[in-house]
Amino acid sequence: MAFTKVATVQEIPVGRGKAVQAKGKQLALFNVGGTFYAIDDSCPHRGAPLSQGQVAGSEVVCPWHSARFDLKTGAFLSPPARSGVACYPVQVVGDEVQVDV
Ligand code: FES
Repeated sequence: MAFTKVATVQEIPVGRGKAVQAKGKQLALFNVGGTFYAIDDSCPHRGAPLSQGQVAGSEVVCPWHSARFDLKTGAFLSPPARSGVACYPVQVVGDEVQVDV
């Protein structure tokens, strides 16, 4: 395990996402009721930035064609996406949000 700081807690309000980078990967980081989740920031359908999607509960809706993904697992929940995205462990240390990529 090698967690890397990607943001501070204050940067991401509850119910919002943010594009961050860790070790050369573009990730989408989300705050769901104070718990943070990290997935790949590229929709497997046509590559939309999922960090700009609407958060609904613990799901994110793709901003381009509305595929839904589970933020806890990266699994896809509705088409047009036909596969999920990678999901990464997140920990909060002090006010740092850290991701293990
Ligand atoms: S790019 Fe995400 S559903 Fe099409």
